[in-house]
Amino acid sequence: MPNPTHIQGVAIAALADQFGTPLYIYDGEKITNQVKILQQAFSAVPLKIKYATKALSNINILKLIRKAGAGVDAVSIEEVKLCMLAGYSAREIMYTPSGVGFDEIKEAVELGIMINLDSLPLMEEFGKTYGNAIPSCIRINPHIMAGGNFKISVGHKESKFGISIEQLPEILELVKKYKLKIEGLHIHTGSDILDAEVFLKGGNVLFEAALQFPDLKFLDFGGGFKVAYKPNDIATDVMEVGKKVGEAFQDFCSNYGRQLELWLEPGKFLVSEAGYLLVKANVVKETPSVTFVGVDSGLNHLIRPMMYDAYHSVYNLSNPEGKKNKYNVVGYICETDTIASHRELTEVKAGDLLVIKNAGAYGYSMASNYNSRLRPAEVLIWEGRALLIRKRENFEDLIRNQEILDF
Ligand code: LLP
Repeated sequence: MPNPTHIQGVAIAALADQFGTPLYIYDGEKITNQVKILQQAFSAVPLKIKYATKALSNINILKLIRKAGAGVDAVSIEEVKLCMLAGYSAREIMYTPSGVGFDEIKEAVELGIMINLDSLPLMEEFGKTYGNAIPSCIRINPHIMAGGNFKISVGHKESKFGISIEQLPEILELVKKYKLKIEGLHIHTGSDILDAEVFLKGGNVLFEAALQFPDLKFLDFGGGFKVAYKPNDIATDVMEVGKKVGEAFQDFCSNYGRQLELWLEPGKFLVSEAGYLLVKANVVKETPSVTFVGVDSGLNHLIRPMMYDAYHSVYNLSNPEGKKNKYNVVGYICETDTIASHRELTEVKAGDLLVIKNAGAYGYSMASNYNSRLRPAEVLIWEGRALLIRKRENFEDLIRNQEILDF
């Protein structure tokens, strides 16, 4: 992956002048291209993409993805509302909750949203309340260990997500008891999954279970395609997954006379590489063992390195061709928020602009105000223009909801 100085002809350095740093920048063209690639990879089957909103939930990004022909998967009532604001109709949205209160489920049902039922008690309550009046989906835990690291592996036996495949008899009992109208079965095994075999394995669990549900309309394979974070990383070959999973899906449908849609819920695949976090070096600090570059950002803006030991490529935009030194790029937070460790960068001076790559997915959406720091602005590059899609926070934003008592 090259280290761009421009996105769609717009100079990244000029964005620092125009909008300041730290700054999240998204390449809209890249996002819509990724949607197209996935559509192509699965063109042999009736595909529905349900973008995992949580990866990057700016309303304008949601709009863009909708224009490209995808629906959405939401994981909170707030995400549901964001998607509706972005123009998604209720039937384009799936709500995949994780242990939420029933009031929230009701609110989503009243908005006309399909619920992905993720526990037996939720199935019971849903059945008691709605019987067969409202179609729904069931999230199955397929007992598959997959994903880039344990924290993002969610389809294994001990994961909190979904209903264990071993509890299929109980699921079926509840379906019968309340005449539940089950239109979909869902799995999501994790994030950063390289191997097509994992998706096939998941498919087999879905196919097996689907035999018990005669009225299904779709099977949802979840998300999790791996993207390249490191320079020599291999990403999931979505063409291969599309071919293999597509064939298995078609075989299943034709063998059992089913007419089903295949749903996918990509997050990272659509938005990770499209995003850049542009930061400024505040200080270059040499110690006897390490040279630190302290930047005007940190775990408050990009928590992935600290939370998952995630690797993000970093480059010095201000010195594209100089000689290289080793640095630890660290944040300004009062924690050891190392963004890049022992990394070769072209020589860095205070004031230089650094770019952190793959910041589109789970970057801004996991950002916080820790250390009472302000969250950055977000800019979308679209049709060769830089568009501000979220203002930088200011101090008033930070204290807006605090009640300041008269002590
Ligand atoms: N569908 C469901 C039900 C999910 O829980 C997720 C992600 C996705 C789809 C999308 O997965 P993706 O295609 O983005 O891998 N914050 C972590 C990733 C956690 C993902 C949580 N669920 C990270 O930054 O690596």
